[in-house]
Amino acid sequence: MLRYDPEERPVVFQIFGADPVTILEAAKRLQDFRPDIIDINMGCSVKKVSGKGAGAALLKSPAKIGRIFNLLSKELSIPVTGKIRLGWDTDSLNYRDVVQAMQENGARLVAVHSRTKKQAYKDSANWQAIAEIKNFAQIPVIGNGDVTCVADIARMKNQTGCDAVMIARAAIGNPWIFSRKDAAEVTLAEKLQMIRRHLAANLAFYDGDYGLILFRKHVVKYVTAVHGAREMRGRLVTAKTVAEFESIVTEAEENLAKQPVNPHP
Ligand SMILES: Cc1cc2nc3c(=O)[nH]c(=O)nc-3n(C[C@H](O)[C@H](O)[C@H](O)COP(=O)(O)O)c2cc1C
Repeated sequence: MLRYDPEERPVVFQIFGADPVTILEAAKRLQDFRPDIIDINMGCSVKKVSGKGAGAALLKSPAKIGRIFNLLSKELSIPVTGKIRLGWDTDSLNYRDVVQAMQENGARLVAVHSRTKKQAYKDSANWQAIAEIKNFAQIPVIGNGDVTCVADIARMKNQTGCDAVMIARAAIGNPWIFSRKDAAEVTLAEKLQMIRRHLAANLAFYDGDYGLILFRKHVVKYVTAVHGAREMRGRLVTAKTVAEFESIVTEAEENLAKQPVNPHP
């Protein structure tokens, strides 16, 4: 999980933990791998993390958050940042206290997934809260939550004044969103090419069949909403070998090559 390609810089390593000293030990060891930034996870809502006092559970204690940032920003030689949610639940929306504790103790940036831990992924993200944080925070604010298409990037920036936008789910199956292209604007030929490239990278990275197994959930997203691709979608999702995957992609590419060029695409 700590491997990266130098061209991916700036690289951020994120830590989840519940105890400030343990987090510091982890951060010091991580520094050897030369990340550009260490980030503290205060947003993860899954039980195996938040049930152990880590991730979003840290939001319950702004004082502890202060201690973590104080320790790390003093002891590390690289910037320390944090990713938060708005609070544990709607009765404890303490994002102001959390951001205050962070910035008073050396945090260099805050990323805000604008939901509570209890909401997990339910309801709409509350962009108004990002605007509120941006209004008082003295550190840069990254807005996050429900940016689903290119137009949403400008919409979030306009509505919240945030310094940058973070995109998660909308990038799965559409990495082109980072070059400001919605999935509908990407041609099937480009998608097929990306499927090949992504599969090859997965196979090179993971041992055995694991790369192929993990790739299935990505391939579904690449071909979701591709007009006329229902049959191909079904076959790709159930393909069991690399050869099978590749022959489906090749067949789709050959079919595309046979189609007359549309003078008015
Ligand atoms: C597959 C997946 C893995 C994620 N892993 C992390 C993680 O390790 N750390 C983190 O802070 N957020 C993680 N998130 C949460 C996202 O960073 C983000 O806050 C959330 O998905 C809302 O943004 P979105 O609407 O753009 O998806 C993950 C989300 C997804 C879908």
